[in-house]
Amino acid sequence: MAELIKTGTPGLDQVLKGGLRKNSNVLVTGAPGTGKTLMALQFIYYGARDYGENGLFISTEESLEVLDQSAKNLGMAELTPLVQKDKIIFVQKPISTLRGGITSIKGLIELIKKKNIKRVALDSLIFFEYLYPRFDGNRMEFRRQVLMFMQQMKKAGVTFLTVSERAVTDFDRLTYDMMDFVFEGIILLSRVRKGSYFERVLTVAKLRGQDHSLDVYPITIGSDGLKVLFDQTPFSLVEREEGFK
Ligand SMILES: Nc1ncnc2c1ncn2[C@@H]1O[C@H](COP(=O)(O)OP(=O)(O)O)[C@@H](O)[C@H]1O
Ligand SMILES: [Mg+2]
Repeated sequence: MAELIKTGTPGLDQVLKGGLRKNSNVLVTGAPGTGKTLMALQFIYYGARDYGENGLFISTEESLEVLDQSAKNLGMAELTPLVQKDKIIFVQKPISTLRGGITSIKGLIELIKKKNIKRVALDSLIFFEYLYPRFDGNRMEFRRQVLMFMQQMKKAGVTFLTVSERAVTDFDRLTYDMMDFVFEGIILLSRVRKGSYFERVLTVAKLRGQDHSLDVYPITIGSDGLKVLFDQTPFSLVEREEGFK
């Protein structure tokens, strides 16, 4: 049996029937504002705070100040001491730190080894486009670089969570991108309409070599962070099913 690790998002480990396979990789994808960054932050924060796994958060989406503030507003109050103790490391848009920061994938791998990092979150896949602007339009080469990076993460013994954006919120209309197929797992975040408002939802589309639930679950975001309501079914979906009776 492969060792499973906790995701740091309440309820998600039950959906995954125990957690994520240690040393695997997973893509968290969905429309803007669906909670992807928050899930990635929780993966790193609770990994370091509760499970003794040092984490690296690579952000191309938000400034470190904004991330720090939203983490603290969303239940991750002890972020600063964890960062001070090098249990969590934030790296921002590596391409913009050419003046002395990390300039390459090689630099990141060295950092992972030096700081004994066990969890890496990449927010988002756009990172590779910053790193290799010349791959613009060359999707095969882009895919190859992502695959190589994932292999290096595996070799370094890291569990790897990547975020990507998509334009569609409706699970039924969702189409897959070529990049989706390289990941061992895919978690989809979305919103479904519930009369005059939207409900946040999550489903697991893929988890190679692992059993998982195929249901759609409601999620909530509040002052204690993002939670999956594991024992509830979204009202709107129940209603849709009832419509077929
Ligand atoms: N303090 C808060 N309380 C409730 N919801 C919040 C709070 N802070 C942020 N959010 C919600 O979290 C969402 C942002 O989640 P985020 O992880 O940044 O989304 P994504 O990365 O998918 O774009 C926002 O759309 C907002 O509705
Ligand atoms: Mg985000």
